[in-house]
Amino acid sequence: MDNNLTMDKLVNLCKSRGFVFQGSEIYGGFANTWDFGPVGVELKNNIKKAWWKKFVQEDPSAYGVDAAILMNPRVWEASGHVASFSDPQLDCKSCKYRFRADNLIEEKFKDVDVEKMTTEEMQKFIDEHKIKCPHCGNFNWTPIRQFKLMFETSRGTVEGEKDVVYLRPETCQGEYVNFLNVQRTMRAKVPFAIAQIGKSFRNEITPGNFLFRTVEFEQMELQMFCHPNESMEIYKSYKDRAMKFVEELGLSSENLRFHDHEKLAHYAKAACDIQYNFPIGWQELNGIHHRGNWDLSRHSEFSGKNMEYLDPYTNEKFLPNVIEYSIGADRLTLAVMSEAYEEEKLDNGETRVVMHFKPFLAPFKVAILPLQKNLSEKAKEVYAKLSKEFMCDYDEAGSIGKRYRRQDEIGTPFCVTIDFDTLEDDTVTVRDRDSMEQIRLKIEALTSYIAEKIKF
Ligand code: GAP
Repeated sequence: MDNNLTMDKLVNLCKSRGFVFQGSEIYGGFANTWDFGPVGVELKNNIKKAWWKKFVQEDPSAYGVDAAILMNPRVWEASGHVASFSDPQLDCKSCKYRFRADNLIEEKFKDVDVEKMTTEEMQKFIDEHKIKCPHCGNFNWTPIRQFKLMFETSRGTVEGEKDVVYLRPETCQGEYVNFLNVQRTMRAKVPFAIAQIGKSFRNEITPGNFLFRTVEFEQMELQMFCHPNESMEIYKSYKDRAMKFVEELGLSSENLRFHDHEKLAHYAKAACDIQYNFPIGWQELNGIHHRGNWDLSRHSEFSGKNMEYLDPYTNEKFLPNVIEYSIGADRLTLAVMSEAYEEEKLDNGETRVVMHFKPFLAPFKVAILPLQKNLSEKAKEVYAKLSKEFMCDYDEAGSIGKRYRRQDEIGTPFCVTIDFDTLEDDTVTVRDRDSMEQIRLKIEALTSYIAEKIKF
């Protein structure tokens, strides 16, 4: 990551180069929603594909699902979300800004362990220490209230007869409720995993920092169902696999660290985050949780379905433990972009911005650039050939130098230039994004050359 990188610089690059736009921009935006543009959607899709490849495709004990976002409301009673998925919130009566009570304390008193405090204790602490509003400086708070984080909507067409339904705040419940279905249809033997990628929604009190915390985001979640005796080993193996995965995506080890949780949910046996050194500092990137048999026991209780597993080898019947690995696709995209960014000083005194994405993650693998417009017919032939295999960009406007810079800024690993020699001998120039070195290749050799370089 470039030391000069700030979140504002990244947001500006994302906006000007088609990675990410403000949601509903022409209406003045809609706070903390973001739209992935033509470049960003490719990057995010490549990140999701990489995750799926590592954790589903290459793992014979993992199965994918794509569960409905709207679930039976009883699911959220069983999961505990209806009763307790809320944050302590308070409003400044002077400027109307809203804050999380725990954040307010944490920011001023770094040594205080807010996780251990009740709402009443937080209230007392804020009053006693006269913590002022970070926005307007007044001490004029409403009492702390619990702010529900689940978005509610209703189902039913007759006024007055509507049922409350929730937009899911996490995808994993779709994995728990399909435990029996997947086990039966895939003849799966414990330990096995169910994974999915999908949208989640949270009415966050303090969203912000670009893609870091939003109200609508994608999660990539995996639940490993296992025997209690092997659960701790599996937990540790997912810690390693999760770390290896983000390193393979290009995040450097000095920007990554584990954070083991000291305070655990009453049912949990262990939990940790992997934190990444974002432009806003060290923050959670993903979570790995040993959840005991809490999830399946609760769904058994609330649904009335026996979710025990009968081991065909030992005849032992037991409720599997769950090891959960959960990572936000948008948050990971933010980390990948932050890591890739570089403002590189060139020998000629100029500076270029380059996104050093790993080639398999790059939005476009290759850009086809005719040196002059009258070479476009040949260039389009090359585009037609390569675009059957890879996402390609085509650009014939402006000086070649400017076109290279634009491709550097969106992280395209290879630029293929068509010049007058191409018409003579069917060769092209291939420019490498990172070294800026150029080689000459036959058009017929391009596909295998690029395919080799973008393997994951
Ligand atoms: N099922 C477990 C679960 O949802 P979590 O720690 O609340 O655990 C997992 O979320 C991951 O989802 C986080 O580590 C983060 O990457 C991502 N995430 C959570 N809330 C988010 C938000 N508001 N915006 C973007 N990503 C979020």
